[in-house]
Amino acid sequence: MVEDKKSSQISGFYKKSIKERVEFIKNFSELTDEETKLFSSILDLEIADRMVENVLGTFDLPLGVALNFKINGKDYIIPMATEESSVIAASSNAAKIARIHGGFTTECTDPLMIGQMQLLHMDDIAGAAQNIMGHKAELLKLANDQDKVLVSFGGGAKDIEVRILDSPLGKMIVTHLIVDVRDAMGANAVNTMCEALAPMLEELTGGKIRLKILSNLADKRIVKAKAVFDKEKIGGAHVVDAFLESYTLAVIDPYRAATHNKGIMNGIDSVIIATGNDFRAIEAGAHVYAARNGQYTSLSSYYKDKNGNLVGEIELPLAVGIVGGAGNIHPKARLCKKIIGIKTAQELAEVVASVGLAQNFAAVFALSTVGIQKGHMSLHAKNIAVMAGATKDEIDKIADQMVKEGKIKLDRAKEIIEETR
Ligand code: MEV
Repeated sequence: MVEDKKSSQISGFYKKSIKERVEFIKNFSELTDEETKLFSSILDLEIADRMVENVLGTFDLPLGVALNFKINGKDYIIPMATEESSVIAASSNAAKIARIHGGFTTECTDPLMIGQMQLLHMDDIAGAAQNIMGHKAELLKLANDQDKVLVSFGGGAKDIEVRILDSPLGKMIVTHLIVDVRDAMGANAVNTMCEALAPMLEELTGGKIRLKILSNLADKRIVKAKAVFDKEKIGGAHVVDAFLESYTLAVIDPYRAATHNKGIMNGIDSVIIATGNDFRAIEAGAHVYAARNGQYTSLSSYYKDKNGNLVGEIELPLAVGIVGGAGNIHPKARLCKKIIGIKTAQELAEVVASVGLAQNFAAVFALSTVGIQKGHMSLHAKNIAVMAGATKDEIDKIADQMVKEGKIKLDRAKEIIEETR
């Protein structure tokens, strides 16, 4: 089969052998032989030992690629690391449908992170707050003195905001330092700056500094993605309506919103992990953002366009980096970033948001039509067949039989193995 080298729409990719898939990605992403070998390697124990403490070994996850993504007119193949079956296929299918109307379009803010410095024990809170704002220029200069490299790339501390908060311990001031972290996730740069500002803030206010730390509610680092899902392709107007009815529950009900957003994070976390980013930071920011108006709700929104097609949008904070951190140390994370072909952290954030939307569309589409189990079952059955001791040649046959019978159980898998051997 001859394929356009730079199209991410590849038919029958799942039918190829792992070796053929790797060969394809090697060509698509122009990987070296050395890089290509990394797919089947495990993390060097020496590297692992430098990354965390008390190392015994490493822990692997399956790494696959989502296909069919067109984002802002560019084709992407997107590595996803996940233990959950159907996630990668679902994203790829949704991206294929989105392509009909041009794929995903995205926008994002500058990569602005917030550092918090907490001040207590001041007699004149209002005067202290005023004094901080009166010395904004000096505070920003001191912050920027901590990271000349970031400043040379156009980043650095950009602004100071002061908040006065009531607490059971009395009033306190929380000073926010707004830092453009460019292509980094930003935690290190921001935390260093906050710690450096602490003595000056104490001097300016007469107060006592406690916490000095980045906020994971990165609500100045927002990404939006949008796609149109063709009405006819998804089964007609009644499917669009069924989708919107299902989606609406996530808008009004936190119980459903949690599951709906979990589906979004299935896609997002898989790319975040594959690129060596901090998925806990992303999760924390996303869920608080989902509750920003006082009630936890959906991170995505859907409506019909004038032709009755389904339009999906997602908006969330995404503090992702392409330099520094684990993503720089872990060879596979470096490889995954090369496969995506991203040039900036903002581009990665736009890719990640698009995958989140694709994943969400796929889940809600399945839920509002055939249900989620149908898609899950075939892969689940294969896993059960393996657990029951099926050999490589037997797995598909045993799994198919269990799906046909609607009985995907370890006992049944064992029975079929015995019957057929
Ligand atoms: C399962 O991992 C994710 C879903 O529950 C998401 C959803 O319900 O929208 C299928």
